[in-house]
Amino acid sequence: MKELIKELSEAYGPSGREEAVRKIIQGKLKPLADNMEVDSLGNLIVHKKGPGKRIMLAAHMDELGLMVTFIDKNGFLRFSNVGGISPHVLLGERVVFNNGTAGTIGCEKIDSMKDLNFKKLYIDIGASQKKEAEDKVRIGDTAVYQRNCLDLGGRIISKALDDRVGCAVLIQVLQEIESPANDLFFVFTVQEEVGVRGARTSAYRIKPDYGLAVDVTRTGDTPESETMSVALGKGPTIKVKDTLIISHPRVKKLMVDAAEKAGIPYQLEVLERGGTDSGAIHLSRGGVPSGVMSIPCRYIHTPSEMVDYQDVIHGVGLLKNILETPLE
Ligand code: CO
Ligand code: ZN
Repeated sequence: MKELIKELSEAYGPSGREEAVRKIIQGKLKPLADNMEVDSLGNLIVHKKGPGKRIMLAAHMDELGLMVTFIDKNGFLRFSNVGGISPHVLLGERVVFNNGTAGTIGCEKIDSMKDLNFKKLYIDIGASQKKEAEDKVRIGDTAVYQRNCLDLGGRIISKALDDRVGCAVLIQVLQEIESPANDLFFVFTVQEEVGVRGARTSAYRIKPDYGLAVDVTRTGDTPESETMSVALGKGPTIKVKDTLIISHPRVKKLMVDAAEKAGIPYQLEVLERGGTDSGAIHLSRGGVPSGVMSIPCRYIHTPSEMVDYQDVIHGVGLLKNILETPLE
């Protein structure tokens, strides 16, 4: 499964340009799906038939990006963020475009780090004039962090673990699940990072009885971090609340019961800033009882997100247990 996480996290796929990621997932799931389709926004919907309730599972394919807004006469690129990026993590960072064009991020002279913002930053792709830059990049093209996935043994560092690790969990569950007790729709969504957009339309289309997003969540286990009762290596989390959802008590309970019955370690999660696809799913049509399983992740939205491999494995186990339980 580490190979799968590596392949997915290294793929290019900023919000709105998820094709490469989708193609990888389609290749893996073709033999396993009862039906597989791509909707008009680009969500990949994989149906695994079962007898019971309709359950929508969602993991987003998109990652953060930097979109070119202006090319100056010396060939430097100005950009705008696609999704929640802090300018601080961009200093000295390398980025790469879909066509392979790579560059590094430079900064204008600033007197204090407090003055750092996107307007002070530019991408240098090694061009010496506008024309040369324009041969490689156009306005509206989007770059992503250029980083390889690192296997540290127990833990993994990569870009885009938010939420390719969630995609990997869904793929693995589909590969391992033998007898689903429910009618399952695995949705690999688009445009989560810019406002949970793909989940909104796919939930409307699927009309699920229950919704479950699989995503990453922050931790409170690093030096002087914000207080939060989640740590790496203590199991996947069962969300209670974030900015976009209060998990439905019935869904939360069935997740907790499944974890305890199977003896899988888990943590309860209250995320004070941030949301996931379940924020959109639970507000679809007349409302869909929904919850979230998260993989604890340090340094979210930086080029070096970190997860613990055991949390991923336990996440697969927990999800399988939930989906093999007939739901009322
Ligand atoms: Co994110
Ligand atoms: Zn995410």
